[in-house]
Amino acid sequence: MTTTNLKPNDLIRELDALAKTAASGEALMKSIVALLHEKLTKYNWVGFYMLEKEGGDMLALGPFKGTMTPHTRIPLNQGICGAAASSGKTIVVDDVNSDSRYLACSVETKSEIVVPVFVRGKVVGELDIDSHFLAAFGPDDRKLCEHAAALLGKFLEAHAH
Ligand code: SME
Repeated sequence: MTTTNLKPNDLIRELDALAKTAASGEALMKSIVALLHEKLTKYNWVGFYMLEKEGGDMLALGPFKGTMTPHTRIPLNQGICGAAASSGKTIVVDDVNSDSRYLACSVETKSEIVVPVFVRGKVVGELDIDSHFLAAFGPDDRKLCEHAAALLGKFLEAHAH
């Protein structure tokens, strides 16, 4: 299968396989990020932000692929990232330049999806993906990204001390 022919649905089983062999939550995050970034070429920046334990009102950048972002820590009341984590809802933005919440990572970014990660019903972080294309995230992308975020949540639940 070539990279260019891949569709989001093709990656569900590949993601499931990663969760079966991951040595830690951090390792699973790294492998999810690497898979999505490599296989879906319109996913130009892929990363996790996780809630900092202390206080719990700040998101900290975790594993990511793509250009370095100035937003290594994001308060819950800022950005699309903050909105997704504080509402516990997936946010899809077709045109980031028309969304006043948007915090710019790269001038090339045109659209974004942010999916919360839950552990025992509580948001612990989120999967954030940016694209250089307008409205890059359709229903299949949403399904794939929500699947990836849920896999991490289930893994963290099962491996929590
Ligand atoms: N665009 C995000 C900030 C994170 S960077 O895109 C990696 C936001 O608006 O919260």
